[in-house]
Amino acid sequence: MSLLEVRDLSIAFGGLKAVDGLSFDVAEGEVFTLVGPNGAGKSTIFNMISRFYEPTEGKIFFDGEEITHLPAHKIAELGIARTFQNIELFDHSTVLSNLLMGRHVHRKTQVIQDLLFTRKARADERSHRRRVEEVITFLELEAHRDSLIAGLPYGVRKVVEIGRALAIGPKLLLLDEPASGLSVEETRDVAFWIEDMKREMGLTILMIEHDMGLVSAVSDRVLAVADGKFLAQGTASEVQSHPDVIEAYLGTGVNGEPELKKEEAGA
Ligand SMILES: Nc1ncnc2c1ncn2[C@@H]1O[C@H](COP(=O)(O)OP(=O)(O)OP(=O)(O)O)[C@@H](O)[C@H]1O
Ligand SMILES: [Mg+2]
Repeated sequence: MSLLEVRDLSIAFGGLKAVDGLSFDVAEGEVFTLVGPNGAGKSTIFNMISRFYEPTEGKIFFDGEEITHLPAHKIAELGIARTFQNIELFDHSTVLSNLLMGRHVHRKTQVIQDLLFTRKARADERSHRRRVEEVITFLELEAHRDSLIAGLPYGVRKVVEIGRALAIGPKLLLLDEPASGLSVEETRDVAFWIEDMKREMGLTILMIEHDMGLVSAVSDRVLAVADGKFLAQGTASEVQSHPDVIEAYLGTGVNGEPELKKEEAGA
C-alpha cells in the first residue's frame, strides 16, 4: 500500500510553474528519492507535502487521508517529519534542546498541567527524553549532547538536523539533501543511518539528493524531475541512464557543474 500519494500536483509562483502536474506514490517501508537539476522543484514538493506552500492544483494523500489543505502542525502530528536543505536549528540552544523541541508536537498535557508538573506531565517528559536519548545514541551524538549548535562543525549540525526530524517519531521522513556539503566518510554514515531507519525503525523515507553514490546505495526507487515535471522513474541506474534525464542534466551536471558530456551520455 502507498503511504504517500501525490496526484497531479502543481504550484505556480507568479508566472513560473515550479511544480507542474506531478504524480508519484511512495510505498510503505521504501526509500524513494527525488533527483533533478537545481531549480527542478524538488524542495518545493517537500514544502507542499509539509504544508508550507499551498498547491495551486492537485492532491496529496498520507496513509489514505487527504492532507492537501491541512495546517502544517497537523502534518507532524500525523507522522510526517522533514529536514531542511539549509539546516533549520536553534543555534543558541543545545543539541538536546533542539531534539526535545521536535517532541512538542506530541505534547499531550496542557500548559497549566506542565506548570504544576503533574504526574502525567512528568511521565510525558520522561518518554520524550527517552525517545530523544534513543535518537542521540542512534546518530552517535553523545559527545555533542550539551553543545550549542552554533559551535558545532557543519557535518555534525547536518546530523542533528536529521535527529530533530527523527525525534518526532515519524512514519514518513522527508530528507532534503542529507549529504550536501558532507565528506565521503560522513556521507557513508548517512547511508548506514538511512538503511537502519528503514530496516530497524521501519520508516518510509522520501529523499532529495544530488550525490548519485548515495542515491544508488540506498534508494529502492528514484524519480527524476526537471522544470517541475516528471522525467523518468525506476531504479537509480535506470533513471541515470534515461535519455531525458541525461538531456536535462547536460550543461548543469548533478552538482550544478558541467559533468556529463554528450559522448559519455551516448547522445
Ligand atoms: N517561495 C518561492 N517564491 C518564488 N519562487 C520560488 C519559491 N520557492 C521556490 N521557487 C522557485 O521554484 C523553482 C524550484 O525551486 P526548488 O527550491 O524547489 O528547486 P530544487 O529542485 O529544490 O533545487 P536545488 O537542487 O537547487 O535545491 C525555482 O525556480 C525557485 O526559484
Ligand atoms: Mg532544493
